[in-house]
Amino acid sequence: MTNGIDIAPAKGKLGVLLVGLGAVATTTIAGVMAIRKGLAKPIGSLAEMGTIRLGKRTDNRSPKIREFVPLAELNDIVFGGWDIFEDNVYESAKHAGVLEDKLLDQLKDEMSAIKPMSAVFDRHYVKRLDGPNVKKGKNKKDLADQLIADIRNFKKANKCDRLVMVWTGSTEIYMTPAACHQSLAAFEKGLEASDPAIASSQIYAYAAIKEGIPHANAAPNLSADIPALFELAQQTGTPLAGSDMKTGQTLIKTVIAPGLKARMLGVAGWYSTNILGNRDGEVLDDPESFKTKEESKKSALDYIFQPHIYPDLYKDISHVVRINYYPPRGDNKEGWDNIDIFGWLNYPMQLKINFLCRDSILAAPIVLDVALFMDLAKRAGYKGIQEWLSFYFKNPMHAEGLYPEHDLFIQLMKLKNNLRHMRGEELITHLGREYYD
Ligand SMILES: NC(=O)c1ccc[n+]([C@@H]2O[C@H](COP(=O)([O-])OP(=O)(O)OC[C@H]3O[C@@H](n4cnc5c(N)ncnc54)[C@H](O)[C@@H]3O)[C@@H](O)[C@H]2O)c1
Repeated sequence: MTNGIDIAPAKGKLGVLLVGLGAVATTTIAGVMAIRKGLAKPIGSLAEMGTIRLGKRTDNRSPKIREFVPLAELNDIVFGGWDIFEDNVYESAKHAGVLEDKLLDQLKDEMSAIKPMSAVFDRHYVKRLDGPNVKKGKNKKDLADQLIADIRNFKKANKCDRLVMVWTGSTEIYMTPAACHQSLAAFEKGLEASDPAIASSQIYAYAAIKEGIPHANAAPNLSADIPALFELAQQTGTPLAGSDMKTGQTLIKTVIAPGLKARMLGVAGWYSTNILGNRDGEVLDDPESFKTKEESKKSALDYIFQPHIYPDLYKDISHVVRINYYPPRGDNKEGWDNIDIFGWLNYPMQLKINFLCRDSILAAPIVLDVALFMDLAKRAGYKGIQEWLSFYFKNPMHAEGLYPEHDLFIQLMKLKNNLRHMRGEELITHLGREYYD
């Protein structure tokens, strides 16, 4: 055991700023409010419900994570955010149709009090959306300055000690890093020149990181994962995480795939399809936004199966991902996976998975956990990419030159070992002496 890391206490209020107050954001906010009132338990939240084993298995030390590391109390969280629509959080939650009126009506006053700040938005990056609550500015730098002013006003008005920002906005079009993303100086020039390579989400990310506010991206679009913003994060001591929350089909994929690989079973094909009827589904119906999601969803299998190391088993996997917008289902997504596998003597077998899930119900605890852990990271003096939070993301941000870790169980071990490291506890490698004594 060492002394661990100095972590500033979680005193005072934590402002959680959500960019995009749609289905995921309002379900997160309503959930936290319901839990605070004792109407619900934080199911699905590792930070709130999870435990962490310390020492040897025979030591019987398994405190709750939230008692082991100093996380902000749910009672100390204040929510705020931006949206292109003027609906307050209660109205937006009604529109999203995720939660029942019976619950929302008990939270109506508190939820209605959260009104969206006007957004930085450009239809070029999200073709299927348009709304009235949008800022005007002479260039993108001016828009970034307006966001910084919003952030400071929010902090002051709500007497927050600390802030975190999570992008819960719509998926923007597929973009790859451009020249203006390569350094902070080029990015700031690009803001002045309103370079089209700088998407709305990046203007928010810039504003947050400039203010030293931890930034996480819950969607797949290119956001803070560019050299310019890495540089800024180093300067301002800001933790970064993302991207694209691992909620439904990909969660199951990253549970099943490591199991097949562990037993050296081959995979010939993996066909994944979804139907989804919420606004996210509508945005993803646009081919340019879908491309962003598709790229994010497809990468996990390659990294888990490592076809370059196991060509006999995984070289020619035919991996297809489809999302179809189907309004009658609303937020209740249905995913089908057909997996063509092969075993001893190449005999083929099939696995079929039909997941009838609820998108925002799976996403909300991730937004909460990421906000709590990013705040912890900041208080622990961490900056830059937080790989230990890969557990929550489909397309985990990772240091240059490293490959991202997708296996859910390795990700969980990484997360918990980081917490042990923070507190100076021995890391658990599952090679403890008790196996051999
Ligand atoms: N629910 C899940 O399981 C899940 C999983 C992974 C990722 N995501 C991603 O999370 C994001 C949110 O999903 P959702 O279901 O809440 O979608 P949603 O459409 O209900 O909400 C998104 C909100 O963002 C707003 N918005 C868009 N651009 C904005 C901007 N520039 N500034 C401010 N607001 C903006 C929209 O008006 C909308 O209200 C999507 O990008 C989605 O792909 C969701």
